[in-house]
Amino acid sequence: ISLGVAHSHVLSSSSPSSESLKKTIIDRCEAFIQKNKSSSANNCQKIWSAFEQAFVGRDPCNVPMEAYDPLIHTVIQDPVCNRMLFWSKTKKIAHDFTEKRDCFLTLEDTLVGFVMNELTWCGKEESNETFTTGCPGWTDCVNNTVRSFWNRASAAFADAACGDVTAMLNGSIATPFSPTSVFATIEVKRFKAAKIKSLSVVLVTKENEGTTCDDPSLQDLQKEIDPKLKYNCKAVPE
Ligand code: APR
Repeated sequence: ISLGVAHSHVLSSSSPSSESLKKTIIDRCEAFIQKNKSSSANNCQKIWSAFEQAFVGRDPCNVPMEAYDPLIHTVIQDPVCNRMLFWSKTKKIAHDFTEKRDCFLTLEDTLVGFVMNELTWCGKEESNETFTTGCPGWTDCVNNTVRSFWNRASAAFADAACGDVTAMLNGSIATPFSPTSVFATIEVKRFKAAKIKSLSVVLVTKENEGTTCDDPSLQDLQKEIDPKLKYNCKAVPE
């Protein structure tokens, strides 16, 4: 039996890493749909195909965020007004929080974000293979496969934002509203005053140290958003 398994593996046309990426993505997608019945209109095979076409056969440093438009349009996702949680430099604490409370949702609690979370992938020019190692890192080039995905997915998440929106920012660093972050460069710029009532910043601080709601970067944030949007900020000890 073990010989048979090894044999079929050798015969498989794609590399083991691409097979395992496809399996990881489809397994995660199906697990998500099982847990979130409102997502059951999604087809995980279709999602994989739309995902794959964004980067297979392309230079991994030359995948613009628009390459993921077909993927974003394939995913069926209900907007969740009043419950969206944006975050910056607070990945762990924001997700620990949404895991315990069903009410708030981060991008990584939605189908695409959940499926791609923590994965690395890329293609190569003149190749139909998918790689999970040797891919450019986040800052190696601007239009890298993974970064462009998160930029596009974050744009879609922010486009859908409605009602009262919350952002969890890091009060232990010098610039909680970092001008180079995805939150600042993509998400805040897409907030639409016609759909969003308010932005509440939750500034996670260590007891009596770090930045406060008076921080200059948070004043920059306030200036960035439409004045029709209500803004408030609250420092919350970790
Ligand atoms: N190198 C590697 N990974 C990075 C880097 C980097 N220099 N910068 C960002 N990332 C990836 C990491 O996975 C990191 O955990 O992006 C994640 C978020 O980066 P942050 O700087 O902490 O936050 P931000 O850029 O604001 O992105 C978070 O965007 O993903 C959406 O909706 C989500 O609101 C959230 C925001």
